[in-house]
Amino acid sequence: MLAGKFIVFEGIDGAGKTTQMELLAGFLKKMDIPVLCTREPGGTRIGGRLRELLLDPACHDISHRTEAFLYAADRAQHVDEIIRPALVKGITVLCDRFVYSTLAYQGWGRGMDMALLRQLNELATGALVPDAVVLLDITVREGISRVLGQRPPDRLEGEKNDFFRRVRDGYLEMALRWPGTFRVVEGDGPVEDVHRRILKAVGDLITP
Ligand SMILES: Nc1ncnc2c1ncn2[C@@H]1O[C@H](COP(=O)(O)OP(=O)(O)O)[C@@H](O)[C@H]1O
Ligand SMILES: [Mg+2]
Repeated sequence: MLAGKFIVFEGIDGAGKTTQMELLAGFLKKMDIPVLCTREPGGTRIGGRLRELLLDPACHDISHRTEAFLYAADRAQHVDEIIRPALVKGITVLCDRFVYSTLAYQGWGRGMDMALLRQLNELATGALVPDAVVLLDITVREGISRVLGQRPPDRLEGEKNDFFRRVRDGYLEMALRWPGTFRVVEGDGPVEDVHRRILKAVGDLITP
């Protein structure tokens, strides 16, 4: 048992993960609960080197499987260097995206082998499972219009919409599969309303 609580934020682009993670962190700080905010990709020194390799045009011949292994290595470093040590110290860790993003985007979105992704995740995290995954659910249309700053979403090609629809459906499927971990929060409406929904959804985890 780890002393700190581990809360992950997931959802499609524009769902409000970053906004809501910061609001929850502010709430916890006011209650004198020690909190650490982090995000994936993990921002470790080693992770940075791995990313250089992934983005280097000279590495264009990298295979899909190798690419997945390098992302898994980045996640392993993030867990070992940042997440697990904080949880051991009793710090509440809030993380913007985690293994579920890999499953949603690479698995459901891109159609990569789900069994391989799940095995990689398991190895990368050392089977660390969050106390809660806050899934901010919004429609693809709303997500895209938020990201584009209210430009009409119809200007995007249909393919991109289909991709995000698969990702959203994947998230909702995971929520059904892992109901003990996932807490689906309606991401629509004013920021403050969503914040209140989140406090309700994770209330059991944030009492000092
Ligand atoms: N409830 C909301 N209603 C309208 N706009 C929002 C809401 N929450 C966040 N936004 C805005 O939408 C954009 C995406 O939010 P962000 O928190 O970055 O989402 P994510 O991290 O999930 O991609 C930002 O410009 C943010 O200010
Ligand atoms: Mg974000």
